[in-house]
Amino acid sequence: MDLLALAKASALAAGRLQREFFDKEVEVRHKGEIDLVTEIDIKSEKLIVDILKSSGIPVLGEEEARTEPVGRYWLVDPLDGTTNYAHRFPWFAPSIALMEDKQPILGVIYHVMLDELFWAERGQGAYLNGKRLKVSQINDLNNAVLATGFPYQIHEDPVKVVGAFHDFLVKAQGVRRAGAAALDLAYVACGRLDGFWEPYLKPWDTAAGILLVEEAGGKVTNYLGEPYDPFQNHIVASNGLIHEEMTKIASKYVP
Ligand code: IPD
Ligand code: CA
Ligand code: CA
Repeated sequence: MDLLALAKASALAAGRLQREFFDKEVEVRHKGEIDLVTEIDIKSEKLIVDILKSSGIPVLGEEEARTEPVGRYWLVDPLDGTTNYAHRFPWFAPSIALMEDKQPILGVIYHVMLDELFWAERGQGAYLNGKRLKVSQINDLNNAVLATGFPYQIHEDPVKVVGAFHDFLVKAQGVRRAGAAALDLAYVACGRLDGFWEPYLKPWDTAAGILLVEEAGGKVTNYLGEPYDPFQNHIVASNGLIHEEMTKIASKYVP
């Protein structure tokens, strides 16, 4: 079975649904104080699970699908960027990874409103709509454009998050905060961004994206520069050339 084709088909199907309801009234519920879920998150996950089930591989999803994260399993964020979606800010993506224990071996991210399909397979490179991806060549932080995000529990512990943000802001050429970690990682992979850091992400936020970055020639670690897996709660991803400069800052703010 072509598992990459299956993952792509599931991301495109979820994307179609998300596009269809983008400017419609959708039901929004609070998971936490500022953490939202819409009916489209739930329906997207159902659609993805339904398509992936023909592989016979179990699914762990952000919303409802449950399996133990051991051996081979799909790891799914049906809609990364829910706050954006709920506010009709056109920046969100389904993110789907095939995992082997703690590491992704296949990843697909679909930038719905730009119709950009990113994918990667371990050892086979990373692609955007069929074109091979390569990370950027920027080799110092002064000339780098970075991205980050702020966790839902920001109000509990803003000091480190704001500290890291301050230090990167005064060092880099620019910092972006668009609200979908999967797309931030896809953008590092395709060289539109040079680096990304964020604390407290969940495994489904980063699994597909880190494979894209690595397969495009970039580097992914935790804040300390140690090997990263999506079950850790701090990540630095970059083109590799600015990685040390980034972890030098990030390591002061380990959550
Ligand atoms: C969120 C987005 C956001 C990040 C949050 C994530 P969700 O995912 O990736 O960029 O800053 O921490 O939880 O909830 O929209 O799937
Ligand atoms: Ca997410
Ligand atoms: Ca989500």
